[in-house]
Amino acid sequence: MDLQGLKLAVVGATGAVGQETLRLIAARYPTHTNLKLLASRRSAGRRIDVNGKTFTVGETTDDSFDDVDLVFISARTEDSRRFGPVAAAAGAMVIDDSSAFRMDPGVPLVVPEVNGDDLDWHDGIVSIPNCSTTPLVMVAHPLRQASPIRRIIADTYQSVSGAGGAAMNELRHQTRTVMHGGPAAPDAQPQQIAFNVFPHIDSFTESGYTREEQKMIDESRKILHAPEIAVSATCVRVPVFVSHCVAAHLEFAEPVAAGEARELLRRMPGVTVQDDPAASVYPMPVDAAGCDDVFVGRIRKDASHPNGLAMWVVTDNLVKGAALNALQIAEHAVARGAVHGKRS
Ligand code: A2P
Repeated sequence: MDLQGLKLAVVGATGAVGQETLRLIAARYPTHTNLKLLASRRSAGRRIDVNGKTFTVGETTDDSFDDVDLVFISARTEDSRRFGPVAAAAGAMVIDDSSAFRMDPGVPLVVPEVNGDDLDWHDGIVSIPNCSTTPLVMVAHPLRQASPIRRIIADTYQSVSGAGGAAMNELRHQTRTVMHGGPAAPDAQPQQIAFNVFPHIDSFTESGYTREEQKMIDESRKILHAPEIAVSATCVRVPVFVSHCVAAHLEFAEPVAAGEARELLRRMPGVTVQDDPAASVYPMPVDAAGCDDVFVGRIRKDASHPNGLAMWVVTDNLVKGAALNALQIAEHAVARGAVHGKRS
């Protein structure tokens, strides 16, 4: 069995990640039309073409999952909380893009290139990480071959698509308005995003970190199976439409040469090294957007620590940061016989 033989449902099919999921299904399975497109009641009846077939979007309800094998959920966290268990109980494998289940000890949190083995113990729901955690663990994992990681400091520059389609529209309209002297009037974002950056993604917690930052801290340790790694993050929204950047500082048990790190990263599936500063070659959002890989460059000794490395990591947050990772989980799960829905 492969993915081609399964009925797939996409909850949030009208959203930024859902649209990317449909694009990737079409790109990887150009004859796959056994699909169910779901969203909120607002979108019910909307028509979307995939692989030459027109689908009518349905409202997501508790009865939506009786006839599907695999469900991708990319809606609001409360939708995942409501429909994830319902879909799993109906016998479908659920791959969830929200933070609802990520830190649940009974739910694997998976980046297939890093901890694909964790798919073997899922109980119906698998979570995908936050869109900045995925690129961080994709570079941290191969570097552990050189020396154990002791500490990570990750500061992000995250695009507005991470906050969904409404935030993308807001950047577009607000940029025009502010350019012509009008008011910013933020609505989908907590602050003006046009011509601005702000260190506020998700809500603040008592510790002073935002929930987004706490996600990077907790999720990276869970995926790497390394609760001992000290992690700190500052997550910042920038006026970019697509692709997240991470300035990552990794401290190892022993010194690791930049050249060795480059070599290990070159060998990591799903990672592309773009590191030739003399020729102005380094990853950037405009180049990474629409691409599958995690791009890494500016790899250098961290001047502040003898065992440290600094690097710059860029990834399309909708692709490997979300939809592609989810699809790869589905492919890996099928290949490992870990899709134990009632139909399989
Ligand atoms: P809709 O378009 O009907 O509101 P984004 O991340 O781009 O903001 O997209 C969010 C996605 O989540 C959209 O597809 C949206 O559908 C979907 N969604 C929002 N509320 C619900 C809900 N109650 N049930 C199912 N999907 C929902």
